[in-house]
Amino acid sequence: MVDSFEKIPVEIFATSNEGSRYAAAEIAKLIKQKQQENKPCVLGLATGSTPISMYKELVRLHKEEALSFKNVITFNLDEYFPIARNAFQSYWSFMHRHLFNHIDIDPVNIHVPNGELSKEDAKKHCIEYEQMIDDVGGIDLQVLGIGNNGHIGFNEPGSSIFSKTRITNLDNNTRVANAREFQNISKVPRLALTMGISTIMKAKKILLMAWGFKAQIVARSVEGNITDQVPASILQQHTNCTFIVDKQAASELTRFKSPWLTGVIEWTPQMIKRAVVNLSLKLGKPVLSLTTYDYNENGLGDLLVEKGDAYEINLQVYYLLRDSITGWPGGKPNAGLPTHPERSEPYPKRVIIFSPHPDDDIISMGGTFMRLHDQEHEVHVAYQTSGNIAVTDEFVTRFIDFAVGFQDMFNMDNEQSTKILDDAQNYLSNKKSGQVDTPEIRAIKGLIRRCEAKATCKYVGLPEGRWHFQNLPFYQTGTIEKKPMSEEDVQLTIQLLREIKPHQVYCAGDLADPHGTHKVCLDIIFESLKRIKADDDEWIKDCWVWLYKGAWQEWDIADIEMAIPMSPDQVMKKRHGIFIHQSQKDAVPFQGNDNREFWQRAEDRNRNTAKLYAALGLTTYAAMEAFVRWKY
Ligand code: F6R
Repeated sequence: MVDSFEKIPVEIFATSNEGSRYAAAEIAKLIKQKQQENKPCVLGLATGSTPISMYKELVRLHKEEALSFKNVITFNLDEYFPIARNAFQSYWSFMHRHLFNHIDIDPVNIHVPNGELSKEDAKKHCIEYEQMIDDVGGIDLQVLGIGNNGHIGFNEPGSSIFSKTRITNLDNNTRVANAREFQNISKVPRLALTMGISTIMKAKKILLMAWGFKAQIVARSVEGNITDQVPASILQQHTNCTFIVDKQAASELTRFKSPWLTGVIEWTPQMIKRAVVNLSLKLGKPVLSLTTYDYNENGLGDLLVEKGDAYEINLQVYYLLRDSITGWPGGKPNAGLPTHPERSEPYPKRVIIFSPHPDDDIISMGGTFMRLHDQEHEVHVAYQTSGNIAVTDEFVTRFIDFAVGFQDMFNMDNEQSTKILDDAQNYLSNKKSGQVDTPEIRAIKGLIRRCEAKATCKYVGLPEGRWHFQNLPFYQTGTIEKKPMSEEDVQLTIQLLREIKPHQVYCAGDLADPHGTHKVCLDIIFESLKRIKADDDEWIKDCWVWLYKGAWQEWDIADIEMAIPMSPDQVMKKRHGIFIHQSQKDAVPFQGNDNREFWQRAEDRNRNTAKLYAALGLTTYAAMEAFVRWKY
């Protein structure tokens, strides 16, 4: 263990793919060891987005390196209840789709809790499940993910350390998080079958994987007190448990968050900024009011030893914060401001905003988007995916009804469109849960979102020709699970970039979010820029990339390099821009226990950034959008 704050060993990898390969290799090692001993290898398995790339690697090891699963017995952690095995969302289906269908495991060795039973039978089944695990000698290696609320399996906060396999209630938080699989939270089952905490704790070895946005819960589980309110913290009592995380998921551990508390560090300007900003927020004192005493009392004596006077350090950090604030995201023309986050020349600039879904531009950087346009830069928006998955059946039905009514109203008996509309109506009214939409319905859903995006661009004031619908192929699966980035995705993006030759590129900087659309979208842009750079195109030498935080979080205040203030009027204008995306109102699932709508989340987040700047002693704005520069 690296330091005393961590009570569970943590292995950190640059990317989730590397972490997944490590976990897969651990499993493969154990399978082979058991084969040599002529013994079965009993694996406890998890579902969810986290282990998908690990399963992919196991399949690869089977196909390319002849790893056999003949001696493997598996027990899955959990299953929704009730649910039909063959439903797309069932964990039975999930496991077959991602692993079992592609390896040589004997089907009789596969165990997934059965969600098809009556409640009474399910109770007996849970007792038998527990017994079956004991009968094969217990689980040799248990794979876990972790919920945002710290759950392991479906052992939600409050689950007892002595709990066994049972029927359990799903926390609202979990239902919201998993709603993405069901299109709508109301369709997520309220119950589940899950192994208990004691069942998990009996495993001989445990690997818990966590990627990206799980940083806070990882830190609480690894460094916090053991409490049933964070079920994963109970793993501190296991003697052979390792957390496998990517850099992002490790970022809240003290050794990264406040490394000065864990040993000697190099005081770079960025590290000083981080330490002082943390100190100021912790003490509720503006940066310029921090004293030598404050530094000494809070583990920052070393910084004073290295860099001298508290007031000098305060000033240094204050200037860094002050210089990150600008009302000129495209640079202030005719003003040589060396500390400004953007260059003043050239003016005006050509700008591309990459928006993974049709509303990320306005939600995440609507104020900046409007400013760039108002300040007469040539702003383009590239909508990377159609976002059709996030349009509910109810919503598309309304539009189909409209189209049918429109035809009737004007006696347009166009046979072909009538057939398409009839077919779509029939399909939707008989659609089973999890069934993939027909290509026509997907296209109509995509069209709805395209119209909303176009309306937003017009609302901001962009002229025709400035919006580009990329419809990147990786997204076009019709299901939640997407394909990986392909050459075609990259070529389409290179082509667009070469056409526009931007001076500024904005993109959703969700560097983590391993399986999410945002991460793939970002990888595609990075890959495209890298290749253009390697080809030595002249314009790329003067192209700056700014990352906005796409999904639900904001950048850490100490990392922000450009903060764009918004007036109350601009906040309102942005709100109305978000309202245009009517298909995304109310019913859209997202991470966490959060029922706020997009505009509320966006406003809270922007207001919070402004409040943090104010708390640090800077000017108080109504709201602020934040960016980090990516130097490639
Ligand atoms: C899945 C399971 C859950 C998940 C957890 C994280 O079998 O038991 O505990 O591991 O909800 O889910 P993802 O990986 O989708 O973030």
